[in-house]
Amino acid sequence: MSTLKEEVAQVRQAAYPIDPAVLNRWSPRSFLEKEVPENTLLSVLEAAHWAPSAFNAQPWRFIVARTREQREKFFPFIGEFNRSWCEKAPVLVLIVSKTVTDKGEFPSHAFDTGAAWGFLALEAAKQGLATHAMTGFDFAKAREILEIPEDHAIQALVAIGYQGAKENLPEGIRAREVPSQRVPVKDVLYEGSFGKSFK
Ligand SMILES: Cc1cc2nc3c(=O)[nH]c(=O)nc-3n(C[C@H](O)[C@H](O)[C@H](O)COP(=O)(O)O)c2cc1C
Repeated sequence: MSTLKEEVAQVRQAAYPIDPAVLNRWSPRSFLEKEVPENTLLSVLEAAHWAPSAFNAQPWRFIVARTREQREKFFPFIGEFNRSWCEKAPVLVLIVSKTVTDKGEFPSHAFDTGAAWGFLALEAAKQGLATHAMTGFDFAKAREILEIPEDHAIQALVAIGYQGAKENLPEGIRAREVPSQRVPVKDVLYEGSFGKSFK
């Protein structure tokens, strides 16, 4: 069992007991310009790859940018706001999913790849790394620049690195550098059929 981090304990409480590792993961925007050792990065990607998928098809693919040259290739398709903070992150990973198998359309490619991102984020947090997913970027431009084939869907871009001080962020986004909240779990639960409250 992990221990709840101090900065998290102040703002996040789970209504029902869960592993503190789940609460410890959050999405900061301040990253240190410090390299992630290759083996640590590979552990994080390995965890993602152990996610479950329909028919064990493993539809996730990860395009990793971990050198300055590789990251500079990503910057032109990232929206201005996201670029303002993610440029410092030492690793960017574009997550795509294979939409077909040799049997045809693969309906759960996005669901399965979302699970892989969840595993990635949790393992990263356990390894002392921060992650921040983004969809605020130009998908068509990313497809063109990174030569992503049409039978692969772009899911999200993820910044990975060591968390930096919030003072290092552009002023406008400093106040948002805190672990977020959730609505009560019962607000998203139905019982029996859609729309029926979980009692
Ligand atoms: C698929 C996805 C896309 C997101 N896109 C952005 C984004 O473009 N820019 C951004 O600053 N945060 C983005 N986020 C971060 C979310 O706002 C954040 O995960 C959410 O507020 C919950 O906070 P937490 O991750 O700290 O628990 C994204 C998250 C996900 C999962």
